[in-house]
Amino acid sequence: MNNLIDIKNLTKQDIAQLFLMADKIKSNSKKKNRKILRGKTVANLFFENSTRTLVSFELAAKRLGAHVVNLNLAKSSTAKGESLKDTIQTLQAMDINAFVVRHSQNHVGKEIQQWLNPEIKIINAGDGNNQHPTQALLDTYTILQHKKKIEDLKIAIIGDVKHSRVANSLIDILHTLGNQKIHLYGPKVLLPKQSDKGIICQSMNEVLGNADVIVMLRIQKERITDNSVPNMKDYHQNFGLNRTTLALANHGCIVMHPGPINREVEISSEIADNTPSVILEQVANGVLIRQAILATLLQKS
Ligand code: NCD
Repeated sequence: MNNLIDIKNLTKQDIAQLFLMADKIKSNSKKKNRKILRGKTVANLFFENSTRTLVSFELAAKRLGAHVVNLNLAKSSTAKGESLKDTIQTLQAMDINAFVVRHSQNHVGKEIQQWLNPEIKIINAGDGNNQHPTQALLDTYTILQHKKKIEDLKIAIIGDVKHSRVANSLIDILHTLGNQKIHLYGPKVLLPKQSDKGIICQSMNEVLGNADVIVMLRIQKERITDNSVPNMKDYHQNFGLNRTTLALANHGCIVMHPGPINREVEISSEIADNTPSVILEQVANGVLIRQAILATLLQKS
């Protein structure tokens, strides 16, 4: 593993090794972890606003002893007309070991890779509606803390699947891990056309019936360029997770959401804040998984 740009590039074995690394970091003392990336510098390049992902990467790098610079480029040099290439090359000249990049443009990681020395690592923190590989890893790691085997689980992904990089990369990692039981549901305009992404369901009954894992998604309004934003008035009634709809799923299911949550839209507070919601476990695991990724990529560089 040399970079983390697309989750499809990871093998089953790469994923297992990252999870072992996360377990190890969790059991290490704080002092031991602080030595892992001593002397390294990580730059968080966020061309899109973010709260949890940025903080998560910052804490992950700092807890491993790295220096961290956070660049909120949504408001900075790009606004002054600097090209992406110039921004990247300027930062490269300052001896940075890894770039963590969030950008609204799909596949931006590949583009950046061409301008960087090969020893500098790139981690995709979300590119357009394409991929969010660290989220896919932390979601899978969280599922495995509750369920023994990924392959046989019925996984329900509900909401704006079409514009969600979270859904895209989660579906990809689940396929790599041998799960073919992904069920998708949401307003028709927010579902993918290709059925290779999962089984497209026709009702909450169908998607939730016997579900072991439920992933609720926010409507990514900022990415909807046509007029396909659904009628929000009836959204919760038709596609929301609440006590009534949750009762359709398996006893023992878990409820996930990448955040930010829109309460009483895709999920009711009652469900988000109580068992079987694992939303805050996802957040906690996010730091650990990002530590595992940084350690794996940078330790020997
Ligand atoms: C997601 C994202 O940015 O893609 N959030 C996150 O990273 N936890 C999902 C979203 O914005 O809805």
